[in-house]
Amino acid sequence: MTTASTSTPPLLPAVEQFLAAPKRLLIGGEWVDAASGKTFTSFNPSTGEPLVEVAEADSADIDRAVAAARQAYTSVWRNTPPAQRAQMLWKLADLIEQRADEFAQLEALDMGKTQRIARMADVPLVVDHFRYYAGWCTKIHGETLPAGNAAAPAQRFFTYTLREPVGVVGSIIPWNFPLLMTAWKLAPALACGNTVVLKPAEQTPLTALLIGELLVEAGFPDGVVNIVPGFGPTAGAAIVKHMGVDKVAFTGSTEVGREIVKMSAGNLKRLSLELGGKSPNIVFPDADMDAAIRGSLMAVMYNQGQVCTAGARLYVQQSVADQVTERLIESANKMRVGHALDPKTQLGPLVSTDQLKRVTGYIEAGQREGATLAAGGLMDANTAGYFVKPTVFTDVQDTMTIAREEIFGPVLAVMPFETVEEVAARANASEYGLAAGVWTRDLKTAHRLAAALQAGTVWVNCYNLFDASAPFGGYKQSGYGREFGDASLHEYTQIKSVWVDLN
Ligand code: NAI
Ligand code: MG
Repeated sequence: MTTASTSTPPLLPAVEQFLAAPKRLLIGGEWVDAASGKTFTSFNPSTGEPLVEVAEADSADIDRAVAAARQAYTSVWRNTPPAQRAQMLWKLADLIEQRADEFAQLEALDMGKTQRIARMADVPLVVDHFRYYAGWCTKIHGETLPAGNAAAPAQRFFTYTLREPVGVVGSIIPWNFPLLMTAWKLAPALACGNTVVLKPAEQTPLTALLIGELLVEAGFPDGVVNIVPGFGPTAGAAIVKHMGVDKVAFTGSTEVGREIVKMSAGNLKRLSLELGGKSPNIVFPDADMDAAIRGSLMAVMYNQGQVCTAGARLYVQQSVADQVTERLIESANKMRVGHALDPKTQLGPLVSTDQLKRVTGYIEAGQREGATLAAGGLMDANTAGYFVKPTVFTDVQDTMTIAREEIFGPVLAVMPFETVEEVAARANASEYGLAAGVWTRDLKTAHRLAAALQAGTVWVNCYNLFDASAPFGGYKQSGYGREFGDASLHEYTQIKSVWVDLN
């Protein structure tokens, strides 16, 4: 591990310009201040310095945004031909692609992920996502049905379904993939004909606001997308409780997910919840060891471990456990920790001081409960920015806090196992069920485990792969509903059955 680098490459002129003026809310096609006049600061996690002031939405602004979204839904968007919606989504993708460098740098500045990764992974996936759902706009349709029974004779009735939008969607997203989550929520909602009120996370509002600046150019009518940065208990809760919101799409902690289920009861709005995880990643002796070790390290270190699918519980078969652990420690120690804009950085900062405190607390809990801190740990107290080292714990028991709770930091718990049955049971002994990894060359082991693991995604000989076409979501307390693919269309449409008496 090399210490946090201090070299900060220059900002792109467009990014400097974006940061030069306070950011406002996008409501009904206008950039406006919060009704309260309040603002909050977005920080740069690499330095701890403030980046820009952002208007802080609360319930009065959410009322305005929901009214704008409803108006746009009933007056234009519901009746906009699917092919035109497709064109706008495609155009938005083009505009983001043209400004990929700017998006990547702004994301790195606001969130702390490395600019290199943001440019290589986040931005292209965002562009793909809008294009993928642009394709769906024209392919969402109902069906004719072979209805017929004693009371409703076949031939007499013509029965068919219409697949209609749900209406106004409230999207509440977290800070770990601010731009990507914006795309994950906007693309399918808009493709299905809904309008949106989007609340970015208070730590990372900036790239969503930059997308806001492109909406008009892409052709979206005013009010189809409204962007309202603010805090969870005020702006977020106001969206969830709002009687004029028909569906909430949420990604974030399981704790807030539970709150949302309760708060949404008023109008029984639809929910999709993508929540936390504590994903098991399992290495067998017959795996391609180089790939397994590299992949298992990245499974937990990617995005500084702030990934809901992070492979945070590593189960290694006993016969290779020592060897794998040793090599993991060696690789973790070599990772370069530093400023998110530095092209040499492999591990950037955590997103916020809160997250730094949370992760620090877990590292201390690991030591207190008797696990061995084999690599990494806390930085020197005087380091600016919110850094922790790539951390590996050994001598971990399944019952320890660091093996059970979501840490959301670059902290790996390594545990040996003996048999497939044993490891499947231990992997599944979690309240979460978001993802899992298996590293083996044996087809039978791979497919048996793929079936046995209680998780929404299983990666075999790979990890953390995503594609707009592959449904993503949780089992158990990792949430419900599926994003991506055609699965997402079900979340953002409702089905109407129509009966016509032909007699
Ligand atoms: P969080 O769940 O509080 O925040 C996620 C989003 O929900 C943000 O936009 C926030 O403003 C909003 N929110 C918070 N409270 C709300 C409420 N009462 N009503 C409506 N919206 C609300 O997550 P936080 O506090 O930022 O992170 C805490 C932990 O949550 C992390 O350490 C991690 O374990 C987990 N987490 C999981 C994520 C995932 O992708 N599954 C993403 C972010 C956090
Ligand atoms: Mg920030």
